[in-house]
Amino acid sequence: MIPKYPLKEIELVEEHTYNHFSKIASKYRSLRITDSEPILFIKNQLNGKSVKSIADIGCGDGRYSLELLKNLGNECFIHCVDSNEDMLKSLVDYFNQNRMDGFCIRQGNASRLPLETESIDCITTFNAIHHFDLLKFFAEVSRALKEEGHFFIYTRLRNQNFRSIWGKHFPLFIEIENRLYEFDQIKKIIQQSDMRIHSKKIFGYNRTFSLAQLLEKAKNKHYSTFSLYSEDTFKKSIKTFEQNIRNNFDDLENIKWEDENILIEIKK
Ligand SMILES: C[S@@+](CC[C@H](N)C(=O)[O-])C[C@H]1O[C@@H](n2cnc3c(N)ncnc32)[C@H](O)[C@@H]1O
Repeated sequence: MIPKYPLKEIELVEEHTYNHFSKIASKYRSLRITDSEPILFIKNQLNGKSVKSIADIGCGDGRYSLELLKNLGNECFIHCVDSNEDMLKSLVDYFNQNRMDGFCIRQGNASRLPLETESIDCITTFNAIHHFDLLKFFAEVSRALKEEGHFFIYTRLRNQNFRSIWGKHFPLFIEIENRLYEFDQIKKIIQQSDMRIHSKKIFGYNRTFSLAQLLEKAKNKHYSTFSLYSEDTFKKSIKTFEQNIRNNFDDLENIKWEDENILIEIKK
């Protein structure tokens, strides 16, 4: 059963977004690809610095939060923040299955982080900023970070989305997904906070999936973009997508493409 939208606790998160993530919470991890490269890059950038407290905002079911904790050492404690209660429940199960402690969950909004002022060494956010009010979020990150604190944003830029298999072959995908940012837009909003961009790194991933696997992901709405289609348009679009893939790829068991993401490192 989908729980009712808890308006009071997480006001400002769109009901539609909330319900989408509630529906998908129990299977989210199995539908998405978790890449280790950004975690290793973050570890490297922190370069042995003592990081005792991390917060992962829009942590979802915790697939990246867990990798962070595993990689950043035993001394670390991670605050897992998300507006969605069902995602957080799934995160708790996942951490318990992996026998990881050193974490807490905080249901809350990126616009008003449930974190003490100047209490956190490192804040991360993976695949989530397009759901946030960025101006408010960056002000909150700056408030919660300690002096010299680190902030990492991992996301898909709008132009990276255009070039993905979905952007190229799924009808209306790039028109409907109008929430993603370009780098310059993020840069401009960062400049309005008291933080500065320290580095940026593009990650490219060679993907191979069968047509059946691609269809399975889309039908389960692994990207929230798919939840923005009307039911009728989605049904028609998935048929057209299948036909587009059949027309453009010879080996339907091994459809290959490159995904891209960006990691932006910001310092206070
Ligand atoms: C695409 S998922 C990414 C989850 C996770 N970071 C990952 O990469 O697997 C986006 C997450 O952001 C959360 N979210 C959306 N709007 C939010 C907001 N305003 N404040 C906090 N979390 C939010 C959703 O509930 C969802 O779990």
